[in-house]
Amino acid sequence: MIPKETIQDIFEAARIEEVVGDFVQLKKRGSNLLGLCPFHNEKTPSFTVSSAKGIFKCFGCGKAGNSVNFIMEHEKYSYPEALKYLANKYHIVVEEQEPSPEDKIADTERENLFSIHSFAQKFYTDFMMTTEEGKAIGHTYFLERGFRADIIQKFHLGFAPLAWDSFTKSAITHGYKEELLVTSGLTINKESKLYDRFRERVMFPIHNLTGKVIGFGGRILISDKTKPKYVNSPESEIYNKSKSLYGIFFARGAIVAKDNCLLVEGYTDVISLHQAGIENVVSSSGTSLTTEQIRLISKFTKNITILYDGDPAGIKASFRGIDMILEQGMNVRIVLFPDGEDPDSYARKHRSSDVEAFIATAADDFIAFKTRLLLSETNNDPIKKAGLIHEIIQSISLIADPIIRSLYIKECAGIMSMGEQTLLNELNRLLRKKVLKGHSSDASREREEGVVDQPIFEIEQEPILKADDCSAQELDVIRLLLLYGEKTIDYVHQTSPNKEETTNMTIAQLICNDIRANQVSFDDPVYQEIFEAYAKGVDENDVPDDKLFFQHANQKVSSYAIDIITPRYELSPGWEEFRITVPQEEQRLQEVSLRAVLSLLHRRLTMLITSNQKELKELSDDSEEWADHLSRDIFLKQARNEISKRLGRILNN
Ligand code: UTP
Ligand code: MN
Repeated sequence: MIPKETIQDIFEAARIEEVVGDFVQLKKRGSNLLGLCPFHNEKTPSFTVSSAKGIFKCFGCGKAGNSVNFIMEHEKYSYPEALKYLANKYHIVVEEQEPSPEDKIADTERENLFSIHSFAQKFYTDFMMTTEEGKAIGHTYFLERGFRADIIQKFHLGFAPLAWDSFTKSAITHGYKEELLVTSGLTINKESKLYDRFRERVMFPIHNLTGKVIGFGGRILISDKTKPKYVNSPESEIYNKSKSLYGIFFARGAIVAKDNCLLVEGYTDVISLHQAGIENVVSSSGTSLTTEQIRLISKFTKNITILYDGDPAGIKASFRGIDMILEQGMNVRIVLFPDGEDPDSYARKHRSSDVEAFIATAADDFIAFKTRLLLSETNNDPIKKAGLIHEIIQSISLIADPIIRSLYIKECAGIMSMGEQTLLNELNRLLRKKVLKGHSSDASREREEGVVDQPIFEIEQEPILKADDCSAQELDVIRLLLLYGEKTIDYVHQTSPNKEETTNMTIAQLICNDIRANQVSFDDPVYQEIFEAYAKGVDENDVPDDKLFFQHANQKVSSYAIDIITPRYELSPGWEEFRITVPQEEQRLQEVSLRAVLSLLHRRLTMLITSNQKELKELSDDSEEWADHLSRDIFLKQARNEISKRLGRILNN
């Protein structure tokens, strides 16, 4: 554990231009620095570093962050590793805090689990390579499948013996505790008898990102309908199924080098492709990809190619999951294998170079693939075709980059022989809906891009604002604090019908005081933390600098802050120009800030009214509670009316 103070020291010492400068050649451009982005291939530099803000931002691929994020991303370091790297660079001594007793217990439990899994892997491998039973059954099975000796060794394949408890016995003789064996899942305790989970199965160890064994898949040798084909390790402190990918340790280098990750279904597909020299491949082990797995892949590349063995029903079932990948900002391509073939069988039947060539030529972009597949099912029926538009545009709307979105619109319009405008209208409709639903950080982005051309938080639109969260409104308030908190304005307010008074105050003061006067807190804990920092600054007459948040020790706070602010810069290719292109908001800060605060209050009140009314409906109308709820309903509506009036005054000014 690195102490908070040391983290702060590191952030203060690290100069973004120096940290980045170690890896990227930077040239001065206005008040910023510019270079070629290290995270994607580009010929014209669009990677910008702001020394003043302590952040970097690439206008090509959209990556942004502070010094620590840069090192994490560039060197694939964890947060503490990146901090230590920077501490070393700036000669800051890191005295790690003694871990708490609970930390220590958790650490030893993990260590022990790693140890027993490493032992088990060696046990199964040794058993397969050295015993008669192992050689005759396990090893022969792999050789007959065509696995080469070097591949069997590389993937640490093995064989679990027929006997009930060979592994458990051996582990106990080697000093492993019964309790650990059971928590690891390798041993099963049934009616106080211990026996091995894996018996008479060929064993595929599952490695984590750093190559440690965290679990196993055991395949049955014969086809037996009464038994599962694979037995898999249960989840444990070190094995989280939704976060692991089979093969990631062996693939990570090749994924970066090829800037692409192939995704297959099973253990044997991964291994066969490796044997054919194609190493940038992982498997989600028969299940659909989870968000965490996508994030893991996106550490190494933004491109995923999914290899399917052709069964349209199965492929269609996976479309939803693929939408999730698009939503994470990744590019998805699809390879469909010929009838009856899967990557494993195909790789065994063809020469390595042919396999690679097949994947390269057969890969079809997901959106185009989906469009073609669904279109082929409509038989040109116009009604079915209309339904298809919605399906396709739904996927396109998930893509964050507006340029890529418009390219897809063009392509799909072509495939469906349809006007681009029809598709564009549908796209805009969906995007607008998304913003109104308050898709947190997306909301401000869409607004900046001008997708939504009218102000979106007007009172007339209240019926649409019935969704049950305030995240879009909260975001807007936080965004204004971060962007303009320090700015001062001459706040003009009416003290009586014909008297106006002017007070000089900061935007932070204006926002914080209004929010606190109305006793509103933020649902999002990170927003709340940022808000409190500003509120404290207002009380102490020292409004925090947005830099403070970019470099905040709480990673969530810094990434939120960077996320919130940088989309604004995307309006134009440079941070300088942005001041010229969006002057409106800055010139109307009083109005904009008040509107944001009032919109949040309005939304919060609407939520309270809705939930109160729901409770009201369930109460019998002669109870005391019913009367309470009713008066609360009246009170809340009055309060909301006040807010509506104030909002109306601002909007009509
Ligand atoms: P497959 O049945 O395609 O297995 O399931 P496979 O690994 O390709 O094996 P071969 O080539 O037929 O010998 C794909 C993946 O689904 C998971 C495994 O991860 C498997 O690799 N699976 C399948 C299970 O977890 N349990 C099962 O019973 C079946
Ligand atoms: Mn298979």
